[in-house]
Amino acid sequence: MSRTVVVTGAASGIGRATAALLTSRGDRVIGVDLRETDVCADLSTPAGRSDAVAGVLSLAPTVDAVVACAGISGNSPGVVAINFFGVTEFVTGMLPALAGSSAPRVAVVASSVAIHASDAALGEACLAGDEEAAQKRAVELEAEGHGRAIYPGSKGALARWVRRESITDAWAGAGVALNAVGPGVVLTPMSAGLFDDPRMVAAMDGAVPMVLNGHQGPEVIASTLAFLVSEENSHITGQVIFCDGGAETVHRGSTVF
Ligand code: NAI
Repeated sequence: MSRTVVVTGAASGIGRATAALLTSRGDRVIGVDLRETDVCADLSTPAGRSDAVAGVLSLAPTVDAVVACAGISGNSPGVVAINFFGVTEFVTGMLPALAGSSAPRVAVVASSVAIHASDAALGEACLAGDEEAAQKRAVELEAEGHGRAIYPGSKGALARWVRRESITDAWAGAGVALNAVGPGVVLTPMSAGLFDDPRMVAAMDGAVPMVLNGHQGPEVIASTLAFLVSEENSHITGQVIFCDGGAETVHRGSTVF
């Protein structure tokens, strides 16, 4: 049966591949991005997130699923605004529209680096929903020369948020499955520049050792996301599915159980 699925970041990379896959399967896809899609809005600001929700609702009062791919890389404080709050606030804003679906699902894109050590204060501010404090901490980290903690911090907080929220009345109680995918290195416009410098590739492969089949295309992540938001996924929730060629397993080994 055709489903209505909202995909953020639909203009590029993983979001674009997900939108294409779902469309090819007969779903109706509503894209959200800065440009070149159905709903153009800036998910890095509270006003932009409200505009995005309103824009989707004007096209479809009921949606079956949301896939949140929009995000940015880098070491700047702005990363937190889009990668954490731009995801959590937007998908939460979509809950009323999901309530009308018989099989509501949400999947967000975290990262395999979500498991890397980051900054506790940044994570706590994100999880407290305090965007101002999170932004302030990110600015401090950048000023202290620790900007590299911001991206993993934003993704680690997102993974923790998914686990925390998924089992609440608002999500599980409403029948909405909420999961994340943690990709390794994906060949998209976001990562393209990294491949110009062999030293960067070596550093990346050290941080994200993809022992099974190496780097991946965006269609690999799209397939995983498409399953998580399908009707068939009736009982997986609160999970971070690492689709990373084994990188997370290399780092954490077998002692997580
Ligand atoms: P991409 O750069 O190809 O696509 C990201 C999309 O998000 C773009 O269309 C961009 O316009 C949109 N976007 C960025 N800021 C936005 C904003 N403020 N409001 C609305 N839309 C905005 O990147 P890619 O690789 O497809 O990344 C998608 C997600 O996957 C991101 O969350 C990224 O952190 C994550 N990821 C990517 C990996 C990679 O190696 N490419 C690895 C692990 C995670």
